[in-house]
Amino acid sequence: MLSYRHAFHAGNHADILKHLCWLGVIQHLKQKTKPFVLFDTHAGAGEYPLNDDFASQNKEYDTGMTRLLDTQAVSPLLDDYLTLSRPFWQQQIYPGSPRLMAGALREQDHAHVMELHPTEIDNLQRSMRRLHNEAIHVHHRDGLEGLIALTPPNPNRGAVLIDPPYEQKKEYKQVADTAAKVYSRWQNAQMVIWYPLLSGRAEEKAQACQSMLDAASQLGKNAFCAELTVAENTHDAGMYGSGVLVINPAWQLDEQLTQAMKEVAGQLGPQAGFSLRWLKTESM
Ligand SMILES: C[S@@+](CC[C@H](N)C(=O)[O-])C[C@H]1O[C@@H](n2cnc3c(N)ncnc32)[C@H](O)[C@@H]1O
Repeated sequence: MLSYRHAFHAGNHADILKHLCWLGVIQHLKQKTKPFVLFDTHAGAGEYPLNDDFASQNKEYDTGMTRLLDTQAVSPLLDDYLTLSRPFWQQQIYPGSPRLMAGALREQDHAHVMELHPTEIDNLQRSMRRLHNEAIHVHHRDGLEGLIALTPPNPNRGAVLIDPPYEQKKEYKQVADTAAKVYSRWQNAQMVIWYPLLSGRAEEKAQACQSMLDAASQLGKNAFCAELTVAENTHDAGMYGSGVLVINPAWQLDEQLTQAMKEVAGQLGPQAGFSLRWLKTESM
């Protein structure tokens, strides 16, 4: 089942949380000159024109990205995200995770971006080809299977973004199993896993999501969940926000993300709220 198209959601609240967090992870890796390798298992199209038929249908970016356009950020992480994104926004394009990542890579770093959808892989390849960066490898394959096949990388510093559509309930378990396999062979990986916050109407998926978070807390790695809510969690609310599970985070990423996301939540409106909780720390 591959019916999900991210263009409908480009630039919404969930993209902002996920992309800010991913940028924060990359920036920590850049604090040392040593090279690193990044993996984006569900890369999408790379970039999203905001005036095409998909994105302009519900204009989800209007309750996300658009509200940040004039922000003078206090948070250094938010400021960096806005600096990287604004040139795209000014051209009516929202940069997806591969484009954002490409803008943050250095000469010595490599990346693998994976996508399964037959149309989205074409879009992704076109988007990445324009960059003329041979250090970015595009794969038309299942991202979880690809991640296991390509890790541990050499050099073994690096990070993973896992951002599935979760169209099917079984994807939560597949993500949890993949994370466990990756950590059995690549101990120092940093991992960001995006997940939706679902109301009672989607109880089965919400339970599967909770099981995924529980499994992550058993990996023996520090891990936190950072969540952005944009609506009240009533039974029929559907997706009322989203979260990122960060496994093996760099020191102080939690504080930097909190500062950035509190500022974001302030811009998104009175319903918006941000929280961060540790699933596991060394002291637990
Ligand atoms: C949420 S979107 C990705 C958005 C992108 N990470 C970003 O932030 O810009 C999920 C993507 O995963 C793709 N996908 C679905 N199943 C997949 C699989 N098994 N392996 C790789 N990609 C898959 C979908 O086609 C879709 O483009």
